[in-house]
Amino acid sequence: MDNIILIGFMGCGKSTVGFKLSYRLRRAMEDTDKLIEKEEGRTISEIFETDGEAYFRKLETECLKKLVRTANHKIISVGGGLPVREENHALIKELGTVVYLRAKAETVYERVKHDTTRPLLKGDDPQGKIRELMAKRAAVYEKVSDIIIDVDDKDFDRILDEIAEAGHQSERASE
Ligand code: S3P
Repeated sequence: MDNIILIGFMGCGKSTVGFKLSYRLRRAMEDTDKLIEKEEGRTISEIFETDGEAYFRKLETECLKKLVRTANHKIISVGGGLPVREENHALIKELGTVVYLRAKAETVYERVKHDTTRPLLKGDDPQGKIRELMAKRAAVYEKVSDIIIDVDDKDFDRILDEIAEAGHQSERASE
């Protein structure tokens, strides 16, 4: 165990923060979307198109269970919707220390507006969809996280420093 799990909305920077953190801490990184794509041999968009969101959510829970059985000392970035399923809450917490990268809807929109790989934002009002999903998910992200980092207007080095500082503080608190 002893993993660091990055959660947060699409476009909050989980993949980039995860990649940089894995370099800084010399730990391997996993990404649930990438693991699912590899296992299925197709992209997330193709999975949504062919089998629908409910099927994708099942794959996420399977992927999470597998990580709980196998992941050790890793950085794990999880898809934005993965923490929503009730069944996944205990599994995420079991996996390790959960870091929530909290971003405002405007920050997310700026980062994803030219991206075509996120099926949930493909409609004609991505900004409205972001706000709607965020309103539903914010409380869940807060509930399952151990550490919350506000990422708006911060560069990645600063975000990494804040994660390290918050990690030290929570270690001291648990001593
Ligand atoms: C989703 C987020 C995506 C991906 C899928 C659904 C969501 O991952 O899992 O498109 O429900 O928020 P990222 O958060 O890595 O973009």
